[in-house]
Amino acid sequence: MCGIAGYIGQRNAIDVVYDQLKRLEYRGYDSAGIAYLNGSGINILKRAGKLSELGKLMGQRPDECGLAIGHSRWATHGGPTDTNAHPHFDRYEQVAIIHNGIIENYLELKTELIKDGHEFRSETDTEVAAHVIGAEYASGVPLEEAVRRGVKQLRGAYALVVMSKREPGKIVAVRNASPLVLGVGQDENLLASDIPALLPYTRDIVILEENTIATVTQHAIVLTDGDGRELPLKTEHIEWDVAAAEKGGYEHFMLKEIHEQPDVMRQVIAGRIDDEGNIRLDKVFSDFVWHEIDRVNIIACGTALHAGMMAKHLFEKLLRLPTDCYYSSEFRYGDPVLSPRSLAIFISQSGETADSLAALRLCKEKRIRTLGIVNVVGSSIARECDRTIYTQAGPEISVASTKAYTAQVMTLILLALYIAQVKEMPGVRVPEIAAELKGMGDRAKVILGLEPQVVKLAEQVRRAPLFFFMGRGADAYVALEGALKLKEIAYIPTVECPAGEMKHGPLALVSDGVMAVFGASESDVRDKIVSNMREIQARGGTVLAITTEDDAIVERVANVTLKIPNGPFDFLDALLTIIPMQLLAYHVARLNGCEIDQPRNLAKSVTVE
Ligand code: M6R
Repeated sequence: MCGIAGYIGQRNAIDVVYDQLKRLEYRGYDSAGIAYLNGSGINILKRAGKLSELGKLMGQRPDECGLAIGHSRWATHGGPTDTNAHPHFDRYEQVAIIHNGIIENYLELKTELIKDGHEFRSETDTEVAAHVIGAEYASGVPLEEAVRRGVKQLRGAYALVVMSKREPGKIVAVRNASPLVLGVGQDENLLASDIPALLPYTRDIVILEENTIATVTQHAIVLTDGDGRELPLKTEHIEWDVAAAEKGGYEHFMLKEIHEQPDVMRQVIAGRIDDEGNIRLDKVFSDFVWHEIDRVNIIACGTALHAGMMAKHLFEKLLRLPTDCYYSSEFRYGDPVLSPRSLAIFISQSGETADSLAALRLCKEKRIRTLGIVNVVGSSIARECDRTIYTQAGPEISVASTKAYTAQVMTLILLALYIAQVKEMPGVRVPEIAAELKGMGDRAKVILGLEPQVVKLAEQVRRAPLFFFMGRGADAYVALEGALKLKEIAYIPTVECPAGEMKHGPLALVSDGVMAVFGASESDVRDKIVSNMREIQARGGTVLAITTEDDAIVERVANVTLKIPNGPFDFLDALLTIIPMQLLAYHVARLNGCEIDQPRNLAKSVTVE
């Protein structure tokens, strides 16, 4: 997500913080800003676009000081503009704040603050946090106390860094579910969202624990808890080089992004499910008349289309809403029949895929309602769709999509629940499914614990000449994505199809040494899946089944089984089976010496036909 930087010491803090932000550029961002103290108070410089834009602004006003904080923003609430860029001031311009994460209750807080006369310049949740903390600070308490009181009012994920005019020798930081590290230097101290931004200055770091408040001065770092009690300071020495640090210590961005999925699953739903299990997408859909929609067309490419197919399954099963999926490239030239009562959904991580954008423009010409499910805020598809729901997955660097896929499917599930809620469909257990969505991050975390087993498996199967990926129901759609991961990064041919289709042709390809991966989370069709597994084995194939913990039948038949924690809804179990498939693709590719983050012939964003 966004990048955080901070410095206090004898060097020119403005230069240090700018350098730190440069070292975080690899993460992706769309605006940047810096706040520092000089004689007249807190100065904020910020600009949309590349860091060089901020650099130009800094060049026009050269300055020096010993304390600064800086931020590179990847937009979530509000587009990538100068005004929305961080830092943000409080009401009295006494404190400046930078923030990573999402404040879930920012709208409620903002409404209350507006009643009290606060005025807001930006659309961000961060500015609301600045006003909350500023209001506490105005009572005369020290900055760390104002932060402590302020964060008690915030719900959501945050790493917050705050500086003030009244206490010019101090930076205060706090985190909850968003990372923040402190760098311990000689007569200087630093802050950052990621270790690479600290490495040129120090290798001694403190990883800030959840809900801990750090008071950082030039010569000391003091940690306190929510009640103001002092906590021990644990310093670690980092040996990683910069390249390893950028990947959070993982060998590749893809592996890092696979491991980010528990957090991403939490981020997708942040602020979108209330305590009663109601889905909160009202802002996106104000004035939208769901009852007028009688058909959905989902249009996307690659992984995004696979996410769309999961949505088709759900929209039809849960909502009885007829849904078709189209490859964007086929849709734009295929002269599709479009009902005026249809909704066209465009799914895209980048928001810039040329075929999807052209298909979107076609729908707009025909006056069809359009909805974007997009990761990159302010991208072309996000801007041009009538409505857009952001997937909130954070920047994805590896060409092979992993966390963007899980975020897209989670977002589409939220959308399905929202439609059921608006249409008051009694058969859809919205609060129960919503409660399960809240637990998906924890289940994903458990599944990542299967990695050592997957590594062993990858060692055994990495030379297989052909992989099948199959399933039934929602598993059949996840199988498509599992296969794409393996072929794009390990360059191994795959056949992917619903398991029931196998006998209609693909079975001819099964012979000794062929590997078949089955998603087997759909309990209604377990017997059928088991028969399909036996058919593969009878012809010399080896079966890997990914199934739920309580499933002894599949386990008895499969040659190898990976088990995921049980849940009450098959389609959520099915989504989770993608994690072992991603890990398998990754480790097979790694063991075979493939170029993982940038596979041959492929690009992250396909902006040409
Ligand atoms: O940016 P988009 O989601 O529109 O990209 C669509 C596809 O190019 C993309 O999903 C691609 O299939 C994946 N990167 C493959 O892992």
